[in-house]
Amino acid sequence: TPPILRRVADLRALVADWRAAGARVGVVPTMGALHEGHLSLVRAARAGCDRVIVTIFVNPKQFNNPADLEKYPRSEEGDAALLAPEGVDVIFAPALDEVYPEGFSTKVSVSGVSEGLCGAGRPGHFDGVATVVSKLFGMTRADRAYFGEKDWQQLQVVRRLVADLNLPIEITGCATVREADGLALSSRNRRLGDADRAIAPALHRAMAAAAEEIVGGRPVAEALDAALQAIVAAGYASVEYLELRSAEGLAPLERLDRPARLLAAAHLGEVRLIDNIAVLPG
Ligand code: PAJ
Repeated sequence: TPPILRRVADLRALVADWRAAGARVGVVPTMGALHEGHLSLVRAARAGCDRVIVTIFVNPKQFNNPADLEKYPRSEEGDAALLAPEGVDVIFAPALDEVYPEGFSTKVSVSGVSEGLCGAGRPGHFDGVATVVSKLFGMTRADRAYFGEKDWQQLQVVRRLVADLNLPIEITGCATVREADGLALSSRNRRLGDADRAIAPALHRAMAAAAEEIVGGRPVAEALDAALQAIVAAGYASVEYLELRSAEGLAPLERLDRPARLLAAAHLGEVRLIDNIAVLPG
């Protein structure tokens, strides 16, 4: 398995050697509980960089709900075993006080793209993401970072952050990896019981149907309303949001007049699931 470093100083010494040798360094930030979705990012990093760092840190600042943080799956040994055949050079898994030592006082806050959608239901979430991602970029000094489209809004927040702060790092977005039935892979899926697991793909199914209807010319509000009803009829407890937004700036759209993204969050039992798909004008 790849070596696991806990200290920023050790990571920086290692990366300094790599950079001195002219290596291009890639980083894949994660919160662990790794699955094929994460591994697809690792493979993209492997293909695009000479050295690959995977970070594993469950970032308390991005959890607005303490119970969610408490229940977040942790499986470092299993994660290291999954990464072993992937050609990862090092795992950086810092302790809490290494990332947020006493006196830590800075918050990175991206407005605009962080508002609405997950930003509405999870106040402070994207500040926590932007803050920890800024730190991980500084700690690793990576040339490239890899993020999943699964978290589309997060990807837009990170792109905005990097552009606005002139951070010397290139962001690559990677397609969402799904189960055969369409359910997007997520660390949270392992908290679904068998019955809920059978219901879960209804979210993606309804979104794909709505996207097709919208491309075909059905009014957006009508298509979204039908999808909403289908998701609840399938057994979801509630739909937190289901919205059509412009793909990049995440502006609300009432008509499909530019490349768009359909984004949703829904609750199934105790579990909150998110998904998004492209909706392209025909
Ligand atoms: P985490 O949820 O562990 O996800 C780490 C990365 O894997 C993210 O970029 C996410 O979009 C990507 N990912 C998750 N499921 C995926 C799937 N099914 N297909 C493709 N990519 C997928 O996102 C976070 O952690 C955190 O917010 C983090 C960026 C690490 C900051 O703490």
